[in-house]
Amino acid sequence: MRVEVFETYTDLSQRTADIVADLVRRRPDAVLGLPTGSTPEGFYRALVKADASFRQVRTFNLDEYVGLPQAHPQSYFSFMNSHLYSHVDLVPANCHIPNGMAVDPDAECRRYEDLIRQAGGLDVVVLGIGLNGHIGFNEPGSPWDARTRRVPLAENTRQANARFFGGSVDGVPSEALTMGIGTILEARQILLLASGEAKAEIIRRTLEGESDISVPATALQQHPNVTVLLDRAAARVLERTA
Ligand code: F6R
Repeated sequence: MRVEVFETYTDLSQRTADIVADLVRRRPDAVLGLPTGSTPEGFYRALVKADASFRQVRTFNLDEYVGLPQAHPQSYFSFMNSHLYSHVDLVPANCHIPNGMAVDPDAECRRYEDLIRQAGGLDVVVLGIGLNGHIGFNEPGSPWDARTRRVPLAENTRQANARFFGGSVDGVPSEALTMGIGTILEARQILLLASGEAKAEIIRRTLEGESDISVPATALQQHPNVTVLLDRAAARVLERTA
């Protein structure tokens, strides 16, 4: 894995946007795998200012909460709409997020996998990382060949995300639909972003620890084209870098 360390969160966000915008300029119909959460907010702020057209781009989000309608302010659809969709010339029909309200979630997950396959696979997937090492909502113990599926959220993930639901863990959905680690590993390029001191230890384990299913992000060690973009604080306890 290549590691790039930046002085500030703004710099790491800009660099991520530059990589993605560059891909879109070279490949106007690029297929992007996209995250939500706090970490990518700066990336989206920079991406919407990039000199690139998204007219033919296809996007696939990593995950969505089960039981939240699209219109819910904390749905990942709402997040994407306010951070990206409403600012660029993406065509709505090309923007995909698993449907957390699907009557048959298993069928929805199969449909999502088929859509990714029909699009020719992901050219790049941008990832954040959970404090427990999750990528997408693949919590510790997730098999590395897993495909898009319905998963329970770990208790510490629900606690970490309570800040988006008025501070109460009870408001955080207990399940999500997520791309699997197997789906993510098939992307041709992976960008893993982390910012802030709270992520420093899990970043150390991801980059320098043993590859093990108890830390899902260590699955990325086996992918040939991963760039890890960190700010100084997230890189603070790395031994071999920074
Ligand atoms: C979100 C996602 C999650 C987040 C992770 C970090 O789509 O897939 O894996 O990337 O929980 O979240 P933040 O960036 O809020 O710390």
